[in-house]
Amino acid sequence: MPDLKNAPPAYGPDNAHYTDPGFRAEFVADMERVSPFQQRFPAGITKLRYDPRKFDFCGIVGDTLAAAGVIDRGALSARADRLEFLHELVAPDDQVMDGSQQSAAARVLYEMPAAFASLYERLLDEVVVPAIGLGPAHFQKVPTFRVFFPNAPGYPGATSYHTDIQIGHNPREVNVFFPLVPCAETRSLLMAPLHESLQVWREYDYDFVRFGRDTQHDPAMQARCGRICQPLRVGVGEIVVFDSRCMHAGPHNKTALTRVTFDARVLPVGDHALQQNVYQGRGRRRASFAIGEYFSANAVGQRTLRR
Ligand SMILES: [Fe+2]
Repeated sequence: MPDLKNAPPAYGPDNAHYTDPGFRAEFVADMERVSPFQQRFPAGITKLRYDPRKFDFCGIVGDTLAAAGVIDRGALSARADRLEFLHELVAPDDQVMDGSQQSAAARVLYEMPAAFASLYERLLDEVVVPAIGLGPAHFQKVPTFRVFFPNAPGYPGATSYHTDIQIGHNPREVNVFFPLVPCAETRSLLMAPLHESLQVWREYDYDFVRFGRDTQHDPAMQARCGRICQPLRVGVGEIVVFDSRCMHAGPHNKTALTRVTFDARVLPVGDHALQQNVYQGRGRRRASFAIGEYFSANAVGQRTLRR
């Protein structure tokens, strides 16, 4: 019988467990504080609206997939650019998920034209960062794209309940989730309220190596995460913003439609300015989460201060 408790996780990178005393002291204080975001939104989650006619991300995604030869643009136009029908247009091989939960179709989206980047920055500047209300913020320069096809093969391991902090992200980040299809059930993000999430992190004494292992191998912990994480029901024109300490997961899509979403992190300038710790990714590349690298050198939402 294999020793599952000590086996490496079937899914997931080298999770974080900070032991350096100085680093850990600030890290734990950040995990346990009432964050500026939490002061404004005690549940740790809020929902925003914008006008998708003014920010046509779906059209640009369609153009990009067509330019890469992944779909026939005319066929998507016939579906009114409704990306939840992408599985009807994309070849089965391009729907398969790899170990980092990316499909070939999703990888193409990292070649998005400049029009996407400027629209994304404008949405953050005009809508998201002002609504968060914590002053100007640096933002993830290249957002993360998720295209989860219905019942696509390759979902790695068990449902990947996590906080991004687990993989090295800064606990002072704020997460932003942008749906490009109607999201529901497993065609969505599963989210736990902040309070329940913090209880779990505290019980684990902030050891995400142990938590990551248990999400893959311990049925009791998997069931508990499954109870507290519920699917977001949101659609195009809505945005969900949440405290980065909230537990969440991108589950295996068992619905009949495609999930297309992108997500990003913002780092309020004021909160970051008071921080000593520097965070980096836990993967092989140890990607830096510093300003000017993963995060933009400039800050958006400046107008919020002048109101
Ligand atoms: Fe995440």
